[in-house]
Order: sequence, then structure tokens, then C-alpha cells
Amino acid sequence: MKNINIGGLHLNVVDQGAGQPLLLIHGFPLDHTMWQFQIEDLSRDFRIIAPDLRGFGASELNDAPLSMAHFADDLDHLLSALEVDLPVTVCGLSMGGYVAWEFWRRHPQRLSRLILCDTRAAADDSDTQTTRRTAAERVLRDGPEFLAKMMVPKLFAQETLEQSPVLVEATRQLLLNTSPVTIAAALNGMAEREDATAWLSEIHIPTLLLCGVSDSITPVAEMQQIAATLPNSQYATIPQAGHMAPLENPQVCNRELRNFLKAC
Ligand code: MLT
Repeated sequence: MKNINIGGLHLNVVDQGAGQPLLLIHGFPLDHTMWQFQIEDLSRDFRIIAPDLRGFGASELNDAPLSMAHFADDLDHLLSALEVDLPVTVCGLSMGGYVAWEFWRRHPQRLSRLILCDTRAAADDSDTQTTRRTAAERVLRDGPEFLAKMMVPKLFAQETLEQSPVLVEATRQLLLNTSPVTIAAALNGMAEREDATAWLSEIHIPTLLLCGVSDSITPVAEMQQIAATLPNSQYATIPQAGHMAPLENPQVCNRELRNFLKAC
């Protein structure tokens, strides 16, 4: 692990392997460890950069409100600090996907390809915004236990819940160990994020979309619709997986990632 100072903010990052850089952006409210199986396998052929976004994992949070744009700009600074000169492939899961859209908009010169896992392009509707803002207030008042109870069963496919209790429990602990201030700020940041739908037809770089077949948070049909709108996209459904497809079925995900990275 490296601890990198970007303008006074310390970010924790795995920087492993050599070759084409692949930047992995985790989902909410997790950290780089959700990519453990990609880091281990793909770092044999690629330079894997897997940070903890500000406030998450072992990265610091300063007192700024969190937005997808802040995260995208942090990643740009991080790549400079790591002296990454080659264009990167950016791969984001769920909230990491929201950050990836912003990265495309704000730092296109850095980007060679996009990979979106279990995410959406649309912004929140007003009911979802209200739910997020209420959850943000509650997490500051009561702590993250209620969120863990609500979220963890939805993150995984039924077979993962039944057959991989260690993975599920590690994810639950990760959520419980995330600071309520970070969770609340990220919930508000997601509620206020831009709608990326209108950007899709302008994204001409090669794009891969992956979605767990049992993803109930960002379902297959929604991701297929995004893929159909992107001019240069490939799409794959990941079997035996829910919202956390790269963690639940790394064999199939890594094969799809490798094929895409080698072909484009
Ligand atoms: C995530 O996995 O990052 C979240 O489910 C994203 C969201 O709440 O929209």
C-alpha cells in the first residue's frame, strides 16, 4: 500500500504490477479491498491502481462536502502523484461508476477506455434523493448499523449470501468501520450527482459494461440500456453474482476484463 499526499489530503492506494494502467474505483461505502481478486490476478499483466476514495478505507476525509466531481479530481491528482503518464482505463463499480462518468467529463485526456460495473447513468429521482438525505441524517445520529442491515443483503446474489459467508461478513464489517461522517457526505454527494444519460452518446472510447445477473440495485436491463446508447460498447452479464459481481464471480469478471483490455 502507498500513502499519497495530494494537496494535504492523504489517500491510501494499491499500486501493483506494470504495463497499461487500470484504475479501479470502489463502490459505496466500501474500499479498495472489494477489488481484491482483480488486484491479485490482473496485476500480473497490468498496472493496477486501486485507491480508497477520500474518507473511505484508510484514506483521509477533510471537511469538504463529498461529490462525484471531488472524487474524480482526487483521482486525477493521485495519477499525477503516481507519475502515471499513459492514458488509463477507468473501471468503477456502482458509486465508482458515477465517479467514472465524472472522470470522463472532467479529465478526458487521461482516459483510454471505460469499464462500468453494476452502476447507472441516470441521476436520482426526488424520492431516492429524499431517502438518501434521510439516511444521511440517521447515520450521523445512530451510526451505520441500520444501513448495514438494509444494504448488505441487497449487495449480493442469494447464492453468495448462502455460500460465501466470509465475503459477506467482511463487506458488512467494512461498512460498519466506515465513518458516519463519510457515509453521510457520500449519500448527499450521490443524491446531488449529475445525470450522465445525456453524455452517453458522446463517449466514443471503448467501453465495457458488466452486470451481475441477480443485481437488484442496478439491474441488467438498465445496464443493457446504457450499453445500447454508448457508441462503442460491449456488455456482459455475470452469472452467479449480484451487485458485487467482481467480488462474487471473479473468474468470469476477470476473463471479461482481460479480453476487453487485450482486444481494445
Ligand atoms: C454502491 O454500491 O456504490 C451503491 O449502491 C450506489 C448507490 O447507492 O447508488
